[in-house]
Amino acid sequence: MDKKYRVIEFKEYGDERGNLVVAEGDGIDIPFSIKRAFYIYGSDSEVIRGMHANRLTKFVLINVAGSSDVLVDDGTHKEIIKLDKPRMALFLDTMVWKEMYNFSPDSVLMCLASEHYMESEYIRDYDEFLKEVKG
Ligand code: TYD
Repeated sequence: MDKKYRVIEFKEYGDERGNLVVAEGDGIDIPFSIKRAFYIYGSDSEVIRGMHANRLTKFVLINVAGSSDVLVDDGTHKEIIKLDKPRMALFLDTMVWKEMYNFSPDSVLMCLASEHYMESEYIRDYDEFLKEVKG
């Protein structure tokens, strides 16, 4: 079975004018067609966001500024991944529990999603997540 999450490094083009990072959808850099983008900023360092899994949506998370930590949990393994480079991204397949925290004051966490927003496909209860992911 494919791993349910992985770190991706985008291409970066830098010259004397600065840097440019490219993230192409449709399986080129991002393994899905992007239907939705949202970003999280202004969260205090002690705040925990996320705390959900998605039945249908895949995500790519990028700290385009600052840093944050992401706890990922596929129901069997847990790992903490620090996002702290604009060219670094975290791919999350469906049915991965995620918690985002330890936001730096300048953190802008960009989230690219494979589906439009639909609350009914979010699992916000950890025991329900374990039940569904193991069943
Ligand atoms: P929430 O899922 O709690 O954010 P996070 O998991 O990042 O901490 O979402 C916060 C609010 O924003 C909630 O009222 C739902 C709304 N929302 C949308 O309307 N569309 C979206 O794409 C997202 C991610 C959230």
